[in-house]
Amino acid sequence: MSDFQDFYTDGYSLPDPEEAARMGRWRALGARSKADHVVTLCARAGIRPQTLVEIGCGDGALLAELGARGVAPVLDGFELSPPAAEIARERGVARRVEVFDGHEVPAEDGEYDLAVLSHVLEHVPEPMSLLREAARVAPAVLIEVPLEDNRSARRDDKRAEAARIGHIQFFDRKAMHALVRVAGLRIAAELSDPLPHAHHAFFAETRGERATAAVKTGVRRAAWRALPRAAERLFTVHYACLACR
Ligand SMILES: C[S@@+](CC[C@H](N)C(=O)[O-])C[C@H]1O[C@@H](n2cnc3c(N)ncnc32)[C@H](O)[C@@H]1O
Repeated sequence: MSDFQDFYTDGYSLPDPEEAARMGRWRALGARSKADHVVTLCARAGIRPQTLVEIGCGDGALLAELGARGVAPVLDGFELSPPAAEIARERGVARRVEVFDGHEVPAEDGEYDLAVLSHVLEHVPEPMSLLREAARVAPAVLIEVPLEDNRSARRDDKRAEAARIGHIQFFDRKAMHALVRVAGLRIAAELSDPLPHAHHAFFAETRGERATAAVKTGVRRAAWRALPRAAERLFTVHYACLACR
């Protein structure tokens, strides 16, 4: 097993059941926004996939949300971490969920209508290679990443937190555009999201932390609404695009 596989295996096998349940709720919350983004971008680009594969599907939280929204009748998932793949399989929403090596997706060229790389490219040493692999198995690739090449996220404490959760790439919108272009794809639709209050407040435990989360949500949303491109140079937003061959 590679160091990467070990890292994500540990991440999905927390010994404390309460903490494991809390992280499950955190992933379920994130999956709701991510699924909204998939629905919005597919609608904007006029894509109605019959077959969808999520590469790096984790515990299947996003597959479950995509299934609930009827995004595609057939959903498959591939994942690096065996315990995560097992949780995803047990949800019963995907036709198949398999463990893979993080490099080669065990699928034929063009086997799917849509491939999803959601919050995966920032975790991988060679994002271009995994994006090309996604574009090999599907003509359209939905990519979502946090844009962490910004003033706030460059601070030492933020970089340390990003490293703790496995982020090794820090993108801005320009870098995402370049990645998509060099992979031989074009962007059919894109969006950014400063994230809802529930996201910013999820780990807040004290009154002070809850107040900070409320202020952070309001200030960020106002800045993002007024000047979205300037805002993403100051703080992290989630960026999603639908890239087509
Ligand atoms: C933040 S989680 C995202 C899970 C899911 N895609 C979502 O959006 O909810 C990152 C996932 O990427 C997976 N991962 C890490 N390196 C990978 C690689 N080289 N190839 C595929 N998946 C990888 C991890 O195992 C982990 O499940």
